Amino acid sequence: MIDQTITLDMAPLEQVLEDYAGQKGAVIPILQHVQEAYGYLPKELLTAISKRTGIPLSRLIGVATFYAQFRLTRRGRHLIRICDGTACHVRGAAKVIETVEKDLNVPAGGTSPDFEYTMEIVYCLGSCGLAPVAVVDDNVHGRLTPNVMLEQLRGLS
Ligand code: FES
Repeated sequence: MIDQTITLDMAPLEQVLEDYAGQKGAVIPILQHVQEAYGYLPKELLTAISKRTGIPLSRLIGVATFYAQFRLTRRGRHLIRICDGTACHVRGAAKVIETVEKDLNVPAGGTSPDFEYTMEIVYCLGSCGLAPVAVVDDNVHGRLTPNVMLEQLRGLS
């Protein structure tokens, strides 16, 4: 289990709340900007938003869990989305995934303990001709082998 306990600097949150002070119906933009500032929306922040705005915590949690754009848990600095759809699977995606899990200590569907990487498994990135494919941050990598994937990931700053 990953330890999500960190001390949060509340200054960015204060700034967002100030920008939206008195604006009704600004739940989504507030959550978007807070997530931009922190990378995710931990309960501590949602509670602080609720206290400051009077929006019920249950409503904030409802919105944050309904929309796929919001994340409630901390993600790694780099997001690796590896495809294990049919075309990618038959061309060795499982081996690529297994190598990232083992060599970089990133569980499939989870985050490395140092918060460097988060790996999501997806089932078609629409680039089957390049199988196996991964998108790392916003860059597409095709015709992957385990070693090429590791090289790409280790080369990230
Ligand atoms: S199955 Fe992997 S990109 Fe389509």
